[in-house]
Amino acid sequence: MARVLLAVGGGAAAIKAPLVVRRLREAGFAVRTLATERALAFTTELALATVSGHPVATEAAWFSPSGRVLHLELARWADLLLVAPATAADLARAAAGLAEDLLSAVITAGVPRVVWAPAMNPGMWADPAVQANVDRLRSRGHAFAGPASGPMAGVGETPGTGRMLEPDELAEHVRYHLTTKDFAGKRVLVTAGPTREHLDPVRFLSNPSSGKMGFALARAARDRGARVTLVTGPTVLPDPFGVEVVRVESAEAMRQAVVDRFSEVDLVIMAAAVADWRPAERKAEKEAKLGEEKLLRLVRTPDILAELGAAKGSRVLVGFAMETHAGPERALEKLKRKNLDLICLNYPTDPETAFGADENRLVVIEPSGRTEAWGKASKRELADRLLDRVRHIMQ
Ligand code: CTP
Repeated sequence: MARVLLAVGGGAAAIKAPLVVRRLREAGFAVRTLATERALAFTTELALATVSGHPVATEAAWFSPSGRVLHLELARWADLLLVAPATAADLARAAAGLAEDLLSAVITAGVPRVVWAPAMNPGMWADPAVQANVDRLRSRGHAFAGPASGPMAGVGETPGTGRMLEPDELAEHVRYHLTTKDFAGKRVLVTAGPTREHLDPVRFLSNPSSGKMGFALARAARDRGARVTLVTGPTVLPDPFGVEVVRVESAEAMRQAVVDRFSEVDLVIMAAAVADWRPAERKAEKEAKLGEEKLLRLVRTPDILAELGAAKGSRVLVGFAMETHAGPERALEKLKRKNLDLICLNYPTDPETAFGADENRLVVIEPSGRTEAWGKASKRELADRLLDRVRHIMQ
């Protein structure tokens, strides 16, 4: 279990620090906390100790006659130090190598990895002195997560760049920095979500795909060092950091986005639930409902994966199959017809792993017909497991 030291600086975003601890623990990390003196004006030692399960490292603890050398102990314990929120003063002390408070002493003592999550007023963030400190820290291998744009603390302040990332985004950044880069140099294209086939400007044919499986695959591949493009149909999920995101609507638009990039990639995972049919005609204006019945003429959408399979070359192709019956036979037939290396079968009618769920169950089938059933797990765990399998095929 990787060990994360969360250092909480003295900014208003420190109120979110207990939630950052929770998200880090949910992501599977062991977490200890350090709070600067000013951080404790915004959050409490009791809250941080309770959610982390460890005493908080404070200035008072550093200078207590315990016989422990706290800054060295923490620097040796941590695999990664996340400073969230980081103030302009925290950045300045670290950039200057001033080991004058516990946080800067831990950094000067040499933690293996440091990730800063700055939080300050946009004017302060843009200040040349602050930016010079950021550059100095970057040149020493420190990483930055954010800041983001949005509303600011302080009544009447105008929104701008300087907000701390949200706790779940910070946990995602930490995970990225602690993951082995076994896909370094690989270019991966993932598709996700449903497509929409419009009848008119306000009506369409689609399906309930949430995009979660494809987004989990894109994040997992990014964390493992791949250069990732995510071509996604409409979903409410936000863009993952460090991934090229191409948002499309129809099967035809998805086909174009995928085909345009196919020559540059080593691996394609088609997790999108592409609509198989579209209305033969798309009306330019909304149609009023006339009469009691209406016949709709549908035509086939392009089969993207079959087209890729026919031009596959040395690329690895992974498909998904969604079946309500005769799953393995139908999935294997699709794998052969589309010239795939693997196909992942899922069952959308199972209430526990239905559309939109955070967990899934997959049956993974090889061209030889060898089949493996993976029990219920988070989509992220399944994504990593699938990438483990793909890595063996790619070598
Ligand atoms: N797929 C695709 N283009 C389509 C339809 C599907 O690229 N027009 C991809 C999906 O992303 C998935 C795989 O093909 O990876 C299997 O999709 P599925 O809809 O289950 O299979 P179909 O080949 O469409 O077969 P059928 O509808 O007859 O079950």
